[in-house]
Amino acid sequence: MRDLAVRVAILGTGSMANSFADGLAHANNIELVAVASRTRSTAELFAAKHGIQKCFSSYAELANDPDIELVYIATPHSRHKDDSILCLQAGKHVLCEKPFAINAAEASAIVDAARQQKRFLMEAMWSRFLPSFVKLRQLLADDAIGSVQLLLAGGAFQPERGDGSYLWKPELGGGVLLDAGVYPVSVASMVLGTPAEIKACGRVGEYGIDEQDAVLLQHDTGATAMLYVSLNASASPDITVLGSRGRIYVHAPMFAPTRLDLQIYGEEVQRFELPFIANGYQYQTMAAAAAIRDGRTESEIMPLDETLTIMRTLDRVRAQVGMCYPMEK
Ligand SMILES: NC(=O)c1ccc[n+]([C@@H]2O[C@H](COP(=O)([O-])OP(=O)(O)OC[C@H]3O[C@@H](n4cnc5c(N)ncnc54)[C@H](OP(=O)(O)O)[C@@H]3O)[C@@H](O)[C@H]2O)c1
Repeated sequence: MRDLAVRVAILGTGSMANSFADGLAHANNIELVAVASRTRSTAELFAAKHGIQKCFSSYAELANDPDIELVYIATPHSRHKDDSILCLQAGKHVLCEKPFAINAAEASAIVDAARQQKRFLMEAMWSRFLPSFVKLRQLLADDAIGSVQLLLAGGAFQPERGDGSYLWKPELGGGVLLDAGVYPVSVASMVLGTPAEIKACGRVGEYGIDEQDAVLLQHDTGATAMLYVSLNASASPDITVLGSRGRIYVHAPMFAPTRLDLQIYGEEVQRFELPFIANGYQYQTMAAAAAIRDGRTESEIMPLDETLTIMRTLDRVRAQVGMCYPMEK
């Protein structure tokens, strides 16, 4: 049973659905068996491109196919709650793209559904499963830099304004915090845990979405995180962790790093090259598949309670920035 391939399906056929399918070509013990689109022809094209046998023209039909074990949700954030719950209530395990939902209330509803159904559920925070993040966690667990004092993380990019993607549409959950800010917030959570105090400022622009956010997180240990994201400037997203004895620099891009520097203060920098295979999206899915075969319902690397605290942090940031989604009004 443990070696039996987990049968995976994809909900949605956009950019991430394609990257996810490409990544699975490099995965062990996983079989990509189905895809669903809101449009039959789109589903058929996607299935032909990725060699998938079954395609559906409704998400509900896919959710109810008894042949599928795990569904990867690759729809815009505004749909994550309903799409995840649809699949969980049909008895499927779920891997849901980041951000896990629009807000903590929606995230809680998804987690409740998974716990009631006793199904596996995980936020697809793929970075945490890459070799560089495994190394980062190992260095911190080994106390390589002493106690962490400060974490600096962020990045900025300039996509075409109003290009039609979900990023610029409040009704789909657009805005830079949920799209990109979730990465530094998640890293801060992984390294420092739940913040005791959250301070944020930012700007909501002409499209009704937050275009820039700066966040300060204070922790009971005395450690602080300084995070930022922007759609109005350009800076490679990276991470610096400053400890009492040394520092770790995680080279850009922070969501898929392959290089990490460790420096004990006053000593030479030690560089670690940590490449990943293909596009790297398969690592999280292999971890989910292994958990499912072990009979576990959540991941130790990306636990559900942590996903909920991350969503609460994002809520508190948005409240201070003044970013409220139409479905929250
Ligand atoms: N992990 C990462 O590296 C990463 C990177 C980018 C994005 N993401 C996340 O992945 C999710 C999807 O992002 P994406 O870039 O793949 O988006 P996308 O290219 O716009 O694709 C989204 C897909 O969702 C389906 N959909 C259902 N309702 C929709 C609606 N009202 N409007 C538009 N599409 C709708 C569509 O598929 P059908 O038409 O076939 O139904 C569409 O192709 C987002 O939550 C995003 O945050 C993750």
